[in-house]
Amino acid sequence: MKIAVAGGTGTVGRLVVQQARAGGHDVVVVSRAAGVDLRDRAGVERVLAGADAVVDAASVGTTSAATATEFFQAASGALLAAAANAGVGHVVLLSIVGIDRNPHGYYAGKVRQEHLYEQSAVPWSILRATQFHEFAGQVAVQARLGPLQLAPRARVQPVAAAEVAAQLIDLAVAGAQGRVPDLAGPREERLDRMIRAWVHRDGSRRLVIPVNIPGAQMRGMRDGLALPGPGATIAGPSFVDWLRTQR
Ligand SMILES: NC(=O)c1ccc[n+]([C@@H]2O[C@H](COP(=O)([O-])OP(=O)(O)OC[C@H]3O[C@@H](n4cnc5c(N)ncnc54)[C@H](OP(=O)(O)O)[C@@H]3O)[C@@H](O)[C@H]2O)c1
Repeated sequence: MKIAVAGGTGTVGRLVVQQARAGGHDVVVVSRAAGVDLRDRAGVERVLAGADAVVDAASVGTTSAATATEFFQAASGALLAAAANAGVGHVVLLSIVGIDRNPHGYYAGKVRQEHLYEQSAVPWSILRATQFHEFAGQVAVQARLGPLQLAPRARVQPVAAAEVAAQLIDLAVAGAQGRVPDLAGPREERLDRMIRAWVHRDGSRRLVIPVNIPGAQMRGMRDGLALPGPGATIAGPSFVDWLRTQR
């Protein structure tokens, strides 16, 4: 089938693209690096022509609720309108476990994005996943301070992005199912320790300092609001096993 991947150059999106192509699907990438800005509805509609399904794995790097909400409103709003006009049969959104328990900062934007999908004219599915194992590296890059590495404290139960990508493709192929069970990895971890392990994975001796990041979203994550509930699907390697494959 033909699958369009919004954010197909990102951390999880590029794995969706690789795995879908390896599975014999016809894949089109929707990202600025691939020449398509999601805010350009007409441009998006052109690349969605003939697509059977869309996977939305686009994101914006921000901790601001206003910036995240504006981005997801504009990007996913245009994507959904373009998908409806192009006759796409199914839109699949990747979201995050616990955002409605902790609707602050970036997660405020994700809540808005989920609402857009729930109201979509195109049949939809939403998969919420926990933080990726790769999240340690994403946060580490943002939290460098000269020679120091700050490591925000948070309780997480991370999952390999490759596992998330596989589930997104299975969903795209299976057809619209609304909200499906949450997806998480096998073990609860502390984000600051994940960052330490990630930074030191290649022998670096950089000083890593655990910190409490102010603000409601990170406070909620320290309180365990990003952890999966009992109904979640547990899949993929633990963070430690995954990290061994990343050297
Ligand atoms: N990271 C996590 O731990 C995690 C966990 C669970 C769920 N999620 C969700 O998974 C999704 C993907 O996250 P990620 O961490 O993989 O994202 P990411 O690595 O930051 O990648 C973001 C992607 O969005 C694209 N993009 C950004 N602005 C765009 C625009 N205006 N038009 C077109 N494309 C645009 C980027 O490509 P260009 O720069 O080329 O445009 C890139 O491909 C997000 O919805 C996120 O909330 C993330």
